[in-house]
Amino acid sequence: MITLALSKGRIFDETLPLLAAAGIEVTEDPDKSRKLILATTRPDVRVVLVRASDVPTYVQYGGADLGVTGLDVLLEGGNQGLYQPLDLRIAACRLSVAVRADYDYASAVKQGSRLTVATKYVNLSRNFFASKGVHVDLIKLYGSMELAPLTGLADAIVDLVSTGNTLKANHLVEVERIMDISARLVVNQAALKLKQAPIRRILDAFASAIPQS
Ligand code: ATP
Ligand code: PRP
Repeated sequence: MITLALSKGRIFDETLPLLAAAGIEVTEDPDKSRKLILATTRPDVRVVLVRASDVPTYVQYGGADLGVTGLDVLLEGGNQGLYQPLDLRIAACRLSVAVRADYDYASAVKQGSRLTVATKYVNLSRNFFASKGVHVDLIKLYGSMELAPLTGLADAIVDLVSTGNTLKANHLVEVERIMDISARLVVNQAALKLKQAPIRRILDAFASAIPQS
């Protein structure tokens, strides 16, 4: 049995075409059931649904053989001992710094002000601001980061941006692009050895179906 860990949102939706290229169709709709293990048209392949930030953990400890997870999740703290053979170029977005439209970020940085930054990505943010020589106090949040500058909780946020609609709707502006993000395939090292042939077939099919920009 090959077990693939996916998160329920964009990653699930955007992995479906790659699975189709490997001749695999998920036979249950995760939006219509509470099931966490989904069967596929291949009796030897199943999908498990986990929180986005738990995908690397499942794969690392062998709860899943393969997983699809964002580069943001991997770099923030979940890439120990994982084989990362493919940039799948799906679920694309960027990690950015944003502030209120009336906040002069450039001057604050130039003057060496200490910035308060709210984010789910404390490790990535610490490294980014340290590399720029900007002093920051980081506040860890788990969602709705956009609210922080609006309520006075923080001067800036570090969050994922794709269409930019959420920033716009909350009168925030993107002032720095930290990095481009896309989803990666991650593979359990032991599974790669023990189930080499079926895993290789899936890797090859995924590789051939990666969207070209
Ligand atoms: P959870 O399982 O924690 O509820 P989720 O179901 O929202 O999360 P997905 O949507 O499947 O998770 O995947 C989140 C990943 O999608 C992020 O880690 C990131 O790499 C990518 N992504 C692309 N665009 C966005 C966006 N606009 N917002 C959030 N994540 C995005
Ligand atoms: C994400 C992210 C931003 C928004 C960006 O949140 O945290 O708030 O999407 O996307 P946009 O640029 O297309 O507007 P989401 O609501 O997906 O959920 P999350 O906060 O649970 O990650």
